[in-house]
Amino acid sequence: MNPIDPRQTSTMRELGKEHDVHYRQEVLKPLFDCIKSADSCYLIGAGSMGKTRLLDHLIRTDVQQHYLGEKAAHTLIIRLDMNRLSDYSEWEFYELMLFNIVQVSGQCSIPEIERKSAGFLQTFLLPVLDQPGNTLKALRFLELVITNLMVVDNDLSLCLLMDEFDEAYRHLPAKVFAHLRGIRDANKNRLCYALLMRNPPTYLRPNLNEHEGFYELLSRNQIAIGPYSWQDVRAMLLQLEARFEYPLNETAREKIYEVSGGHPGTVLALFTNMRRTVEGVAYRFDPRWLAKEETIKEECRKLLASLEPEEQAGILDFAKGNMADASPAIKALRAKKLLIAGEGHVPQIFSPIFAAYLQNLPSG
Ligand SMILES: Nc1ncnc2c1ncn2[C@@H]1O[C@H](COP(=O)(O)OP(=O)(O)OP(=O)(O)O)[C@@H](O)[C@H]1O
Ligand SMILES: [Mg+2]
Repeated sequence: MNPIDPRQTSTMRELGKEHDVHYRQEVLKPLFDCIKSADSCYLIGAGSMGKTRLLDHLIRTDVQQHYLGEKAAHTLIIRLDMNRLSDYSEWEFYELMLFNIVQVSGQCSIPEIERKSAGFLQTFLLPVLDQPGNTLKALRFLELVITNLMVVDNDLSLCLLMDEFDEAYRHLPAKVFAHLRGIRDANKNRLCYALLMRNPPTYLRPNLNEHEGFYELLSRNQIAIGPYSWQDVRAMLLQLEARFEYPLNETAREKIYEVSGGHPGTVLALFTNMRRTVEGVAYRFDPRWLAKEETIKEECRKLLASLEPEEQAGILDFAKGNMADASPAIKALRAKKLLIAGEGHVPQIFSPIFAAYLQNLPSG
């Protein structure tokens, strides 16, 4: 008997109060609409904009029930973390899909599927693990496990959610995309992909011809992962406060929301920073002062680095007062919700701290 059974492994649980089902609804509503109609899509969010956290939330049974209603009992959402790939070989990618499908089927709330999961492990996953590098076997066994799932439950829909997909999109062999398209075509109206990325497919893999069939599946459905709403920042802070036993008052929470613009990475850095500074210091919420603090500066640096080079140049120019309103980079920044409509619809950088950080950087 193999000592490791992936079906027994579980995901981490939240410390502190769990978010209510409405958390991130502006992103989850369109995403679940795609899942319901088995339409593939891609979700774009800049660095530390809460993409991975979004997945922690949406794999919850109550959240799926909220958005999918009766369909939740016949929907299997499989989460794949591309950081778990060490190279981008075909074998490793199919093995990761197979591994996660077997893992989720062993823990899902569909009894017929759960009963079959031990068989899936023995018949499909272990033989693949026994022969690393046998790409054809991994692909065929992956296809077989999907077919088996579809047969076990005739109403089943499957969604493969792929997090941290940027590097995979760049480096996976083109053949993988052809096979993913093939798998979806064999299970049309029942299987879809949702990719979470910092940048769009057209930037990551400009040669669209080479993976056209796969790109076609996604291209119509782009979902922006922008900053958090006030309610979501508040929920995040309440969770951090409980975890670190460091309560804030409502005015401090509102200030954090205001100066961070709702960027979760910055919210976390601000919270960490506050725990270290003396209460009542006048410059505590001054964006220009905060943008010089090391932990906060690091968040801003990561956010800037997560953008395409043209977007980096565009937002830097914008921060310095050189408005190039119609440039493609500015349009892309609006799509990522890094530029938002301020008072009188004048565009502005979503986060006062990020704006101050950019103003401090040398031009060019
Ligand atoms: N609700 C929350 N409660 C506590 N921490 C949170 C919450 N939401 C986000 N964070 C924290 O904010 C940071 C950014 O979130 P997350 O890692 O989900 O972003 P991301 O978009 O996946 O980033 P990347 O682009 O690096 O993949 C993380 O440190 C995360 O733990
Ligand atoms: Mg992430």
